[in-house]
Amino acid sequence: MTTSEPIPYFDLTRQYAHYQADWFKEIEHLGRTGNFILGNAVAELETKLADYLGVKHAITVANGTDALVIALRALGIGRGDAVIVPDFTFYASVEAVSLVGAEPRFVDIELDDFNISSGKIQAAIDERVKAIMPVHLFGLPANINEICTIGEQHSIPVIEDAAQAFGSLINGKYSGAVGTIGCFSFYPTKIIGAYGDGGMITTDRDDLAATIKLLRNHGTTGPNRHDLIGCNSRLDAVQAVLLGLKLKSVNEMIERRRQLAARYFQNLTDCDIVLPTVPTRRSHVYNIFTIRSSHRDRITSALIANRIGHQIYYPMPIHKQAAYQHLGLTDAEYPASVQASREVVSLPLYPNMPDSHVDRVCEVIRGALD
Ligand SMILES: Cc1ncc(COP(=O)(O)O)c(C=O)c1O
Repeated sequence: MTTSEPIPYFDLTRQYAHYQADWFKEIEHLGRTGNFILGNAVAELETKLADYLGVKHAITVANGTDALVIALRALGIGRGDAVIVPDFTFYASVEAVSLVGAEPRFVDIELDDFNISSGKIQAAIDERVKAIMPVHLFGLPANINEICTIGEQHSIPVIEDAAQAFGSLINGKYSGAVGTIGCFSFYPTKIIGAYGDGGMITTDRDDLAATIKLLRNHGTTGPNRHDLIGCNSRLDAVQAVLLGLKLKSVNEMIERRRQLAARYFQNLTDCDIVLPTVPTRRSHVYNIFTIRSSHRDRITSALIANRIGHQIYYPMPIHKQAAYQHLGLTDAEYPASVQASREVVSLPLYPNMPDSHVDRVCEVIRGALD
């Protein structure tokens, strides 16, 4: 590789080439059955996903945002209610709360792991709070056991936003399998990504599973019978067969992500940057590899100059977004989220990424900080 070869942040084409033949075979089979909506392909995938995660129900939906919205609606959360969310996350985690008419109650994060500060949740709870919605950011589980204990103390359900964390573990349980409900995204760059949109909701509760199944499909209880105001949020069978193929190799894909992360750690240990931390009894799936530095501009300028793809996840705490200005929240209330948004930079990491790209990215970062 020459030093001038661009390095993409993510490259889905290599992965697509790997799955293409098998996926097309599955689509051909689907075509012969004519069963494109719900049907066997989706049901089979749901059984496999539930078995993998060790949950009673896995219900697929059209995308991860719908998963959050439907989860909130299944719990009866809406106008007049408040839901606890982290201030530093992808916008959809909070948007979902607003979409059901509830108010997001922002809580600061821990700078160490970028996840909601479980120690600060208690103070944010009042009688209007009807759910706690931690996000397992970047692929590392939040402190979910402590969060569930707080939820139990207040009889408040916990919705895990596990969109970025499929396959990560905390105390031996998978993210999304600990709280009342787990929500996942199958956006193409996620741990298991569709070639289009997709999402999933997990739960052990039969009553919630039944409501979620109704909500995702127009509240339909029989031919031309609609018992709830639902929506159209079904996973395409064409995506379901692909996700079934990917699920077979998800452990290897996660292992490869961990190898690449380990290479970053090795090459960057003595650099003046903060690498991701993984608390004991949690495992990271490195959906996004995010470092932190007070010299971020020096790093990003060098990455740009060397045509190395990178992202700022996320450049703004959610309380600063224009859509939430009306809440009148101040930076002083969320110091860790504000600092994270100023210091983070996410580096290329995806299963088909060559080792040489990690080495080159590290070389450029080291050069920038010399
Ligand atoms: C943390 C988090 N929550 C929710 C979502 C929404 O998922 P989707 O894009 O599938 O709607 C995403 C997707 O990027 C996410 O990263």
